[in-house]
Amino acid sequence: MKNLGILLSGRGSNFEAIAKNVASGEIRDARISAVLSNKADAGGLAIARQLGLNAIVIPSKGKQREEHDREVVAALRQAKVDLVCLAGYMRLLSPWFVQQFPRRILNIHPSLLPAFPGLEAQEQAFAYGVKIAGCTVHFVDEELDHGPIIVQKAIQVLDKGDERTLAARILEQEHIAYSEAINIVLAGNFEIVGRKMVMTLAAEKGPLP
Ligand code: GRF
Repeated sequence: MKNLGILLSGRGSNFEAIAKNVASGEIRDARISAVLSNKADAGGLAIARQLGLNAIVIPSKGKQREEHDREVVAALRQAKVDLVCLAGYMRLLSPWFVQQFPRRILNIHPSLLPAFPGLEAQEQAFAYGVKIAGCTVHFVDEELDHGPIIVQKAIQVLDKGDERTLAARILEQEHIAYSEAINIVLAGNFEIVGRKMVMTLAAEKGPLP
């Protein structure tokens, strides 16, 4: 059984989708041992409390990045977190944080990376006039929206849509993609070659140590 730690700053719909899939067994052999936010009023924390999960607030305001990160990592370690899932966590992680969980931190981004990193990716994509949009789940490295890609989902941009409907349709895919990525990472049947995730045979590699 692996422990997931969710980091979020906002409404928490990706977290909620993960929680549902953990409860149903769609995400296998995992439980959520911590839901941590830098914002006390994050909607996702209220959902975590309703679900009876371990909801933790560590305010980031007025703190140096690494000082905050050290408190967050201590809380994750206390909850024995194996895999950290950023789900709308609006903080860039310090290199120190990234090094504490090598290849054990995932992020979801609402674009087909490397297109449109950063804030308001869906709006950027819509304004650019792309015909295909989507989302990416990737390992976190020291650069923003940058690490090796685990799962991507693509959708067509509809002529009759606007930025809001596009963002909502991407979000539906995010809710599917994140759980798929968690299952892949927990199963451990892959290696990272350069920046590519390459699937290996189940027999060749076991699950996470
Ligand atoms: C999602 O669009 C995610 O891709 C981005 O932040 C948003 C979080 O939404 N990183 P929610 O809080 O999971 O509803």
